[in-house]
Parts: sequence; structure tokens; C-alpha cells
Amino acid sequence: MPIGLDDVVAAETALSDVDGLAGRLIIRGRSLDDLAGRETAESMLGLLLAGAFDAVPTAAELGDARAEIFSRFKAKLGDLGTLPVYDGVRAAIAQLPDDDSTHTALLLIAAPAVLVPALLRTQRGKAVVEPDAGAAHSADILHMLLGRVPAVPEVNGLDTYLVTVADHGLNASTFAARVVASTQAGLNSAVLAAYGALKGPLHGGAPGPVLDMIDQVGTPERAEPVLRSILDRGERLMGFGHRIYRVRDPRADALKAALSRLQRTERLNLALAVETAALKLLRTKKPDRPLETNVEFFTALLLDALGFPRDAFTAVFAMGRTTGWIAHAREQALSGRLIRPKSHYIGPMPREAA
Ligand code: ACO
Repeated sequence: MPIGLDDVVAAETALSDVDGLAGRLIIRGRSLDDLAGRETAESMLGLLLAGAFDAVPTAAELGDARAEIFSRFKAKLGDLGTLPVYDGVRAAIAQLPDDDSTHTALLLIAAPAVLVPALLRTQRGKAVVEPDAGAAHSADILHMLLGRVPAVPEVNGLDTYLVTVADHGLNASTFAARVVASTQAGLNSAVLAAYGALKGPLHGGAPGPVLDMIDQVGTPERAEPVLRSILDRGERLMGFGHRIYRVRDPRADALKAALSRLQRTERLNLALAVETAALKLLRTKKPDRPLETNVEFFTALLLDALGFPRDAFTAVFAMGRTTGWIAHAREQALSGRLIRPKSHYIGPMPREAA
């Protein structure tokens, strides 16, 4: 019995395919190598949401949705800011409509894009920067976060990130979204379920701890002894291993390339030393289990280089993945069946009547 549903096919999808043996991610017939660095957050709407609604949402509508999110929540930022960023975004989303319209889809995509920068600035006592509905999505997010016009490599770096994480087969959060959508609940309900699943450290909660681990290492020479002691304590190395990939996660390379186009050479050298030492130790300590670098390792470094603090990393992941969640939720609702697996009962049976 596949506990954890390993290798169980639970849906048919035309959205994305993860080949864990070849180390290949395909989204709508295009490989990640082709998409990352070329497409933008807006163009992923067209790629992933084609067929999900009467018309494909446009970049202009996404800009309008950012402005609407800001006006809906600007008076509530103080209250939402008392929560951790991820929970603040989730609490705000719970107040949005729960239907299957394009407008709701766009609000759900725009919400983390506007609220992550706004909540971070609120929490740090900085003036909140309003969105610019006419700006490109990634440029606007960075402008709202940094309070300055971002440089082109920074915008490209965020676009590469948002494209890279936009969809990834039937991962835990996407599965959660599809389960909820299969009941014919609205898009908001499906996306909120996905937020719950994404939060855990075995899924989208890993990149913050990745950076903690790199900081703990401090200098390249310390990489091997520090990582060895983590493994000797029976703990996992964050940013390594994957349920599906038995070779390198292709997303790690897409993000590594984006990172190397930004500066911060010293930090990159440290990260590469940590990666090399981790892979060497994992091969020795877990020879039977191929454990390679996963997406979260370079996510942590790239988002850090772009100016996102580590407590916001998982919410930034949601910024990119929401498009995929919505695409899957619509695909499930339009063509799928109620998802209702069985469990295997291992508890006691009622006593036979005497
Ligand atoms: N460090 C050390 N050992 C590991 C790691 C790791 N990162 N990952 C797996 N292992 C070991 C386990 O201890 C186990 O060893 P054992 O058989 O001797 O007990 C073996 O590899 C298999 O582990 P499982 O938990 O069965 O593997 P699974 O496929 O469920 O794990 C997972 C996938 C959860 C991602 C795991 O590799 C992990 O915990 N990695 C660290 C956290 C992380 O990076 N999460 C982000 C994942 S990417 C994403 O979701 C976007």
C-alpha cells in the first residue's frame, strides 16, 4: 500500500509534468529551461490559465487586481501585520470572494504580490508603497518591497523565480487545491487549502531554514564539519532531497543561473561550498537514496539577494505558485471527479455480542 501516495496517479493534467528520473519539468509542452529567464509572471497567466476561464486574464487586469487588493486592505495592514507575513496574507485572502470567476482568480494572484511587501514594510515601520497598476508585475512587487525602482537584473531574477515555481505536477499544495476544487468549492477555498499545505517545512517552508543553515556555516571551510554535525544529530539538510526527483531538480539550476546574474559573489561562493559539501556528505551517509539539491536551496539565496527577508520566503513561493494552483483547481473542477480515496483501518473492531 503506497503510504504517502508515492507513485499513485490521482489526476490527469495537461498543465505540467515532472520527470524525476530525467530531472525534467515540462509546463504546457515547454521545458523549464526554455521558460525560465524568457517568460514573465504575466505570460505564465496565458500559458497556465488558457482554457480555465472564458478569456485568458491579461497583464492589465492583473495590474488592476493589484490596485484593488491595495485599496481593499490598506486600512487593515496594521492588524494583518501583527501576524507572521504568511498568516497575514492568508487571513486577507480569506476575506476575498470565493467563486470561479477570472476576477477572483486575479485577486488571489495579486494578493500575495501586494500584501507581502506591504506587510513587511508595515512590520518594519516603513511607509507602505502603493502598487502601480501599469507596471510589470515583478517590477511592481520589487518597487513595493524596496521603495525604489528595481534594476533590470533584479526584475529578471524575480520573474525567473515566479516562472520557475509556477507549477510542478501534483505536489502537496496543488493536490490540496485539487481535492477542494473536486468538491466544487470556489477558487478561494482551493487556494486557501493550498496555502495550508505549502507552509510546512517539508514543502514550501524550507527556504528560511536553508538560509539559517548557510548562516550557521558562515565560511566555506566550515561547510563540511557543520553539515556533518547536523546529519550526526539525525537532522535533515534543508534544500536537499525530493519525493519525485532522483537526480538534480531542474528548478535549482534555473534559480542558480538567475542568482549568478545578480552580484553578491561572496555569498554565492559560500552557498556553492555548502552545496558541494552537502552532496558529498549525503552520498556517503545515505548511499541508497539519491539526495540532490532541490528548488528551495537556491530559492533561499535568490530571494535573499532580491531583498526579501527569510520570514517572507514561503509567502513569495505562494506568489508564484498561486497561478498553478488556480490552473489545477479549474482543470479539476471542469473535468475531474470528486477526489475521495479510502483509508486502511488498523484500529480495534467492536466486540462480538456475548
Ligand atoms: N537530509 C538528510 N537526509 C535526508 C534528506 C535530507 N534533506 N531528505 C531525505 N533524507 C533521508 C531520510 O532521512 C531517509 O533516510 P532513512 O531511510 O535512513 O530514514 C531517506 O532519505 C528517505 O527520506 P523520506 O523522508 O522517505 O523521503 P521523501 O521522499 O519523503 O522526502 C523531502 C522528500 C520531504 C523533501 C525530504 O527530502 C526532506 O525532508 N528534505 C529537506 C526539506 C526540504 O528541502 N524541503 C523542500 C522540498 S522541495 C519542495 O517541496 C518545494
